[in-house]
Amino acid sequence: MSFEGMWAELLPVGRDAGTGGYHRFAWTPPELECRAWFAGEARRRAMPVEHDRNGNMIAWWLPEDGTREGAVLTGSHLDSVPGGGAFDGPLGIVSAFAAVDLLRERGATPRRPIGIAAFAEEEGARFGVACLGSRLLAGAIDPARARSLTDADGRTFAEVLHGAGLDPEAIGPDDDLLGRVACYVELHVEQGRALAEPVGVASSIVPHGRWRFGFAGEGNHAGTTALADRRDPMVPFAGMVLAARDAAERNGTVATVGKVRVVPGGVNAIASSVTAWLDARGPADGAVRKTVEEVGAAAREAARPHGVAVELAEESYTEIVDFNLALRDRVVRTLGGAPVLPTGAGHDAGVLSARVPTAMLFVRNPTGVSHAPAEHAETADCLVGVEALAAVLDDLARG
Ligand code: GLV
Ligand code: MN
Ligand code: MN
Repeated sequence: MSFEGMWAELLPVGRDAGTGGYHRFAWTPPELECRAWFAGEARRRAMPVEHDRNGNMIAWWLPEDGTREGAVLTGSHLDSVPGGGAFDGPLGIVSAFAAVDLLRERGATPRRPIGIAAFAEEEGARFGVACLGSRLLAGAIDPARARSLTDADGRTFAEVLHGAGLDPEAIGPDDDLLGRVACYVELHVEQGRALAEPVGVASSIVPHGRWRFGFAGEGNHAGTTALADRRDPMVPFAGMVLAARDAAERNGTVATVGKVRVVPGGVNAIASSVTAWLDARGPADGAVRKTVEEVGAAAREAARPHGVAVELAEESYTEIVDFNLALRDRVVRTLGGAPVLPTGAGHDAGVLSARVPTAMLFVRNPTGVSHAPAEHAETADCLVGVEALAAVLDDLARG
């Protein structure tokens, strides 16, 4: 099936008819439908699917001699942020299947296995930690901590894995799988407007992380409680949002509060608690850390006069990732030259770069919007991306 055919099949899955945004959270029905689609595409191409211990899937094109070592891995993820765009994740997987088709049509006979990976819970939209599948695979998160992560309904990651037929006790670093991988190349939609050509190559990912702020106050009646008697957690929460913007401006970083949970959430009730998540990123580790410290201090200061307690916990942090220079240069050479650019977005390729050489290809995004329905790439650019990925895989799988 053509790139356009595969794209059209995936397009309705998990799409909100009203907003056009995607809701494909790990192991929920739309994401399971995407996984079934993945398995179907693999079957269609006679590519055996390996289900690893961490919820990741890999469709393999094995060389004629059956070699399983020295693999060239590509792929991306099928899950989305809440209300996300169509391209973030699936573009890398659809392009990978299309690139395999191109290579086969051209009679290529790879000497190394080529694997197409679908990494689990890349966005962390369900369990809070981004790139959970690749983090587990690479040993970048404690399996016990991963097992106890909960979703919005209070279901643990362990329960959900068990429900999906996986053994929660078996999750964790997989040196057998990683030991068979020579390199990973992920194609992804560009998530800003920095790419003027159809295809570019990544240089680095900026340091980024997620922090959870808990504001504990006292629930009470909105009409009968005098202002002086209130312990309203919403007030310091509001101060924290404004402080995040100020701290980001002062430190040359970006800081976002995009998710908040208010308990109990009644119009006529003072909240008893507020939980808010801060996403902070910047060009240097120190600047990101300073941003978070300043927001923490501002939140505590705003909370004090209201008798509200503040808790601050780091949920995940990824230091700067400089993609492997030799691999990056080889990819650029294979493409006959390509713009090289950094990104502020996190990726499985960033997590895996600690264990295997990784590289990324970006496909131009004319809107510059991502994690929202307006995320876009023109089909013509996607097809240039498929050609580029095919050339890179062909080169890497030869030797
Ligand atoms: C994932 O896309 C992230 O950058 O958070
Ligand atoms: Mn994303
Ligand atoms: Mn992504």
